[in-house]
Amino acid sequence: MKILVLNGSPKREKSDVMHITNAFLDGMRETGAHDVKIINAIDKHIEYCTGCFACMHNGGACIHDDDMRGILRDILDSELLILSFPLYCYGMPAPLKALIDRILPLSSMAMEKVGDRYEHVGQADFSRLRYAMICGCGFPNSKHNFEPAVAQFKLLFHSDEVVITVPESPMFSEPTALPVTEPRLALVKQAGRQFAESGSIDGTLLDEICSPMIPEEVYAAIVNSGV
Ligand SMILES: Cc1cc2nc3c(=O)[nH]c(=O)nc-3n(C[C@H](O)[C@H](O)[C@H](O)COP(=O)(O)O)c2cc1C
Repeated sequence: MKILVLNGSPKREKSDVMHITNAFLDGMRETGAHDVKIINAIDKHIEYCTGCFACMHNGGACIHDDDMRGILRDILDSELLILSFPLYCYGMPAPLKALIDRILPLSSMAMEKVGDRYEHVGQADFSRLRYAMICGCGFPNSKHNFEPAVAQFKLLFHSDEVVITVPESPMFSEPTALPVTEPRLALVKQAGRQFAESGSIDGTLLDEICSPMIPEEVYAAIVNSGV
């Protein structure tokens, strides 16, 4: 499978969340070879969308000539698009948001009603694309935290097959936390394998992956002791 990972962490490969994403990819690789490309959004020259809508009338041509042209080609060439990002202010970090704003050329101005809402009609054929969101955050609570990012992902991509949200994710970069992070990453790997094999992930497994790794009070006390 051709997989494109959009890494939204400004920390690039040192990202806490990329530990989760790499475990998911490792699980997928257990079923066979996959062609994986990782783009660090922060390293790309991506101008902000100006809101001119030229691309939506223009067969997909944006007024900016920057790295987004290649990224759009990469997206259209992929079968699985993974958004890997840390939660920033209840959403995605700005470099990734700038990139996502610029996928507008894939849609035309025309809108159609699908179910109970309107969507733009595609200008390009990306019907074979599947989507995954892998997100981590610094607080121990998922509730009142991940909801805006998850809602945005689902509305954008009409997809909820793979939505992995893991609280307490700075622990993934902490060597002393290995006794709790390794078993969690093993579960993520299992999920990656399941997804590659069957196209879905068992709900109980997902719930386990998305739960705190240590009790929230303990996590908060550890963080506060280092402040
Ligand atoms: C600007 C900024 C905003 C953040 N906002 C949130 C937030 O809304 N909720 C939360 O739980 N953690 C928040 N965090 C913490 C990060 O999500 C957390 O440190 C994460 O593990 C970083 O992942 P990374 O290493 O992959 O970049 C924020 C961090 C930064 C720097």
